[in-house]
Amino acid sequence: AEVVIVPDAAHAGVLVADEIMHLITRRPDAVLGVATGSTPLPVYEALRERVRDLDVSRLRAFALDEYVGIDPDHPESYRNVIRREVVEPLGFDPARVRVPSGALDGIETAGDAYEAAIAAAGGIDLQILGIGTDGHIGFNEPGSSFASRTRVKTLTQQTREDNARFFDSIDDVPEHCITQGLGTILAARHLVLLAIGEGKAEAVAGAVEGPVTASVPGSAIQLHPHVTVVVDEAAASALR
Ligand code: F6R
Repeated sequence: AEVVIVPDAAHAGVLVADEIMHLITRRPDAVLGVATGSTPLPVYEALRERVRDLDVSRLRAFALDEYVGIDPDHPESYRNVIRREVVEPLGFDPARVRVPSGALDGIETAGDAYEAAIAAAGGIDLQILGIGTDGHIGFNEPGSSFASRTRVKTLTQQTREDNARFFDSIDDVPEHCITQGLGTILAARHLVLLAIGEGKAEAVAGAVEGPVTASVPGSAIQLHPHVTVVVDEAAASALR
C-alpha cells in the first residue's frame, strides 16, 4: 500500500477529495464506495466545495454497510447518514446511491441483491474505507472470510462500544449489521483507507504491515494491488 501521512483530518479530507475529483472528471458516471462513521466526514466536506460546479448526476455510490433491524427513519441508520452527509450536500441523485437494506423483512436476500446491484453498476471504482479499533473494514469483524460477500454479521462488543456515541446508550446500538464482505471490498478497483488518531494506530499497523490474517480483517488490503492509506501521525505511530 502507498501510505500517505498528513498533518490532520482536514488534510486527509482534501487529499481524498482531490483523488475522487480526479476520478469523476475522468469518468462522470464513476461508482464510488462510501463509508459512514466519523473518519470520512472531512472527505465529504472537502468534496462539497469541489463538486459545486460539476455535473454529478451520473455518479453512482454504494455504502459499505447498515445496521440490521434499525428503524430506517432513525437518524443514525446508515441510510439516513448517507443521505445527510453525502447525497444531500453533494447533490448526488438519490436513486443512484444505495445502502444495503437492514430491514428484517427480506434480510435473507438483501446481501445477494446488493451484490447484484454493484455488479450491474460495473463494480466500484474507488472505495473509501475507515478502520475499526478492532481492525474491521466495513463491518467485517475479526474472523471474517477474505472471500466473503455482502451478508449479515454480528457486531463485536468493541464495535458496539465504539459506536455507542451515535446512540443514546450502548443498548440502543444494534447487535447485527449487513456489510459488504472482504471479497466485495477487494473487488473495488482502488481502495482508500483513512485513519485518524492514536486509537487507530494498532489497527493501521496490523492492516498495513502485520500478517495477512482474518484476525485483522483490515490486513486484507495487502492482497489488493491499488491501495492508498491516508493517516495522521498518531494513526501512523505504530508503523515501523
Ligand atoms: C463505516 C464502516 C466502519 C468504519 C469504522 C471506523 O461504514 O464500515 O468500518 O469505517 O468503524 O469508524 P470511525 O470512522 O467512526 O472511527
